[in-house]
Amino acid sequence: MEAFRILGGQRLDGEVRVDGAKNAALPAMAAALLGDEPLRLTGVPRVTDVTTLAAVLRHLHVAVRRENDILQLESDASRGEASQRFLAPQHLVARMRASFCVLGPLLALRGRAVVSLPGGCHLGDRPVDLHLRGLAALGADIRLERGHVVAESKRLRGAMLSMSGRHGPSVTGTANVLMAATLARGTTTIASAAREPEIVDLGRCLRKMGAKIEGLGTSTIEVHGVEQLGGATHQVMPDRIEAATLLAATAITRGQVTLRGAPVEALQSVLELLTDAGCQIDTTPDTIRLRSPERLQPICFTARPYPGVPTDVQPLLTALATLGGGTSTIEDQVFSARFRHLAELRRLGARIELEGPRAKVRGVEQLTGAHVCATDLRAGAALVLAGLAAQGETLVHDVAPIDRGHERLEAKLSRLGADIERVPSQRRPTLLMNRQRARERAAVAARSAPR
Ligand code: EPZ
Repeated sequence: MEAFRILGGQRLDGEVRVDGAKNAALPAMAAALLGDEPLRLTGVPRVTDVTTLAAVLRHLHVAVRRENDILQLESDASRGEASQRFLAPQHLVARMRASFCVLGPLLALRGRAVVSLPGGCHLGDRPVDLHLRGLAALGADIRLERGHVVAESKRLRGAMLSMSGRHGPSVTGTANVLMAATLARGTTTIASAAREPEIVDLGRCLRKMGAKIEGLGTSTIEVHGVEQLGGATHQVMPDRIEAATLLAATAITRGQVTLRGAPVEALQSVLELLTDAGCQIDTTPDTIRLRSPERLQPICFTARPYPGVPTDVQPLLTALATLGGGTSTIEDQVFSARFRHLAELRRLGARIELEGPRAKVRGVEQLTGAHVCATDLRAGAALVLAGLAAQGETLVHDVAPIDRGHERLEAKLSRLGADIERVPSQRRPTLLMNRQRARERAAVAARSAPR
């Protein structure tokens, strides 16, 4: 267990390069299962989710090798034990949801997939019905066996299907079905498809491998199935969520930072909100310069599917709003239960109430350092941001979820002037208190148990 120790109060200042996008790299890695030649990806970030998916792919007989900035993936289903050619094991898939993206490619090329139901960050209910409905529409026979999805089909056939769910389209659901459809017989129309830039990036990678895809970035994607896919070289798009994290960190510390290699277009909704908060933003096609005001203004927004404000940015902007001079109102329509960071932000002195689906954040003059815990990737990053602005020392415990999506976030922030270091996690006072209470309860229960 590791923690970040942060001494708040340093303004961020300088220039920094944005890494490749985790959420674009992961489905692109799964796409390697579809080709009969090596897929070379550049810009794949060195984050633990990438390591986990690489382990899943190796299990499925994909050779994964990193040489400098190139991640090379080469699928060879003829190697190894036959039973393992289809099986994505539970101990790996349970760690991260994106590994469920191997389902579509496995099924399309190898005709059978056995994939454990996925894990991932706890953001509320996260079903996979849209993935399964989509693949069933392509002709797959799907059943659930002992916690695993078993999908089978001789050759998938093109169909009309929809990715529309209660909370909008599914991003990885669209990725799964899109990949499967590339090798289906005939044409597939995906209605209500996710329009996220990471899906567009995946589609571009698939096209380089030989897939025929139209309508990327719109809500109707058309895929004309081909007989086989080959290899390709693809540069993964820059990470819009990492970029937003660095911008919000700059704004909350009243700093001034230039991001290089930034996905400016994909960040429009976030840049508008930061402008509402009083930040001055200047852009070129691939740089963003942010200068913060002395006092942030309140912001009101609802996180929605692209092109709306991303749900992954919501916790970061909530942290920003804690220091805004007024009341901010924040809602999340993608993951309505994604507010686990609020309790931890309150430990730092934030004034936040949850009113139904909305968080009301009353800006305070100053946050104060405390011990907090990273409950998931973006919530953890939000706590780091709040710690950077807080007076005194903050310890963000259990930072493993942050490492799932950031390549040494602390090193990047240090280079910009933050006082932050990675340290071994100490026992948290709350945990100790909970353990003490549990011991007391157990003692009481033992005393009153029938003899
Ligand atoms: C992707 O998750 C991202 N992960 C998430 O980023 C991101 O928060 C999310 O999209 C929304 O933008 C990756 O790309 C690897 P969804 P995904 O399926 O695809 C409901 C991060 O921090 N739904 O688009 O798993 C679901 O419950 C991560 O980097 C169904 O109802 O999310 C949610 O309310 C966390 N049925 C909504 O749709 C389904 O079959 C959107 O989920 C699937 C989803």
